[in-house]
Amino acid sequence: MTEQDHKPLRLAIAGLGTVGVGVLKILQKNGELIAARTGRAVEVTAVSARSRDKDRGVDLSAVAWEDDPVALAARDDVDVVLELIGGSDGAAKSLVEQALNNKKHVVTANKALIAHHGAGLADIAVAKGVALNFEAAVAGGIPIVKALKESLQANDYGRVYGILNGTCNYILTEMEETGRDFADVLKDAQALGYAEADPSFDVGGIDAAHKLAILAGLAFGYDIDFDAVQVDGVEQITANDINLSKSLGYRIKLIGSTSLIDGALAQEVGPMLVPHGTPISDVSGVFNAVAVEGDFINQCFFEGPGAGEGPTASAVMGDVIDIARGLVTPPLGLVGGGRGPAKVADKDAHIGAFYVHLMLRDEPGGMAAVTNIFSDHDISIASMLQSERAEIAGDPVPVVLITHETTAARLNVAISAISGLKANAALPRVLPIATFGE
Ligand code: NAP
Ligand code: HSE
Repeated sequence: MTEQDHKPLRLAIAGLGTVGVGVLKILQKNGELIAARTGRAVEVTAVSARSRDKDRGVDLSAVAWEDDPVALAARDDVDVVLELIGGSDGAAKSLVEQALNNKKHVVTANKALIAHHGAGLADIAVAKGVALNFEAAVAGGIPIVKALKESLQANDYGRVYGILNGTCNYILTEMEETGRDFADVLKDAQALGYAEADPSFDVGGIDAAHKLAILAGLAFGYDIDFDAVQVDGVEQITANDINLSKSLGYRIKLIGSTSLIDGALAQEVGPMLVPHGTPISDVSGVFNAVAVEGDFINQCFFEGPGAGEGPTASAVMGDVIDIARGLVTPPLGLVGGGRGPAKVADKDAHIGAFYVHLMLRDEPGGMAAVTNIFSDHDISIASMLQSERAEIAGDPVPVVLITHETTAARLNVAISAISGLKANAALPRVLPIATFGE
């Protein structure tokens, strides 16, 4: 280490919400431990947030305040800028660009920013010889970015999949365990600091899609392509879906999955049924999990807290500690450029079994009409469940079918035909059944 490497590392923190305050608390409690581990003090010299007057429960009397976060990038007393504001554009993007251009290292927890602008920002970081670290952007406290771009990089990666949104996993787990409804549980997740500023990003699958696009970029080396992710959220999942899936031996989880299929990049996020007893089905509450397949590891399974103050701030500080030690790695794990844009896999090529939830009028012939359509489209049915009887003949009741393996394309045609049946009373809901982790 040079004399320079022993000088205190000076941080500026932009954003003093859940994550920013978490970072300050870690420094307050474990500052000496971190200094002993890195050989130098790590201190905060300046901060920025929207409201100067808000009580954040931490002492900010010794640090400079900037009303404009971008001003942090120009300060001489700052070595590393922590961008903890959020949002793919606006102040967060301006700050990160400015900081990198001014040869400041950057640590961010902002998956929206990296999913939309990661490649361009990584180019600036490499050109300027500084770090752009974003471990906290994917799966909270789980060190999956480092695993993919460092520890496991000797592998040719296969499928990378997992539970990437703590808010959704928390909601689905609470709905199953307590029978509470969706909106009620979402309020809890917001109060606990798990949800994004706009929670529709969580429940609509966008947040998980941001993370999946980053994982795909790290694993396969193509340009991060958020727009190519097929996204479905959990807003339509009802307590009835959860209960019926349970009686059939499954749990519903929001899953993100990416792989290369014949050279084309598949990226999917959506609710799926996972069989009880598989590692991923047991990931509960705010926990996330990521499974990485590689040709020399078979599979590694990472599980840990995916959101919240402590776990996210822990990941941010792990990135800071790398910088304190002088460790600067290429942001996307690529030296000398990536593979360019990927060919996008055909979404209807998905092959697997499916859960189909119908509301059918409880009258003779309704079920027969549905099974005939499946038969006409060469789709075999593995199981069927009608758990209720209509009080008045002809009223709709929930019916669930599990298919054998088929293609999404074939199933979609059958579902359109079922939607047109007289016996069908609501839009059918179709969820894929996961084939991993058995
Ligand atoms: P948050 O609690 O909403 O905090 C955002 C902070 O940014 C607030 O302090 C806010 O100031 C400040 N801010 C907003 N706009 C600003 C602007 N234009 N200029 C200066 N400051 C501004 O958000 P968070 O949960 O900490 O999330 C921060 C980032 O971490 C996001 O990118 C998020 O996706 C990511 N992340 C969060 C979690 C989590 O569990 N929360 C986990 C992983 C990643 P005021 O306080 O004055 O309003
Ligand atoms: N809103 C995100 C989640 C925060 O619930 O997983 C962690 O990225």
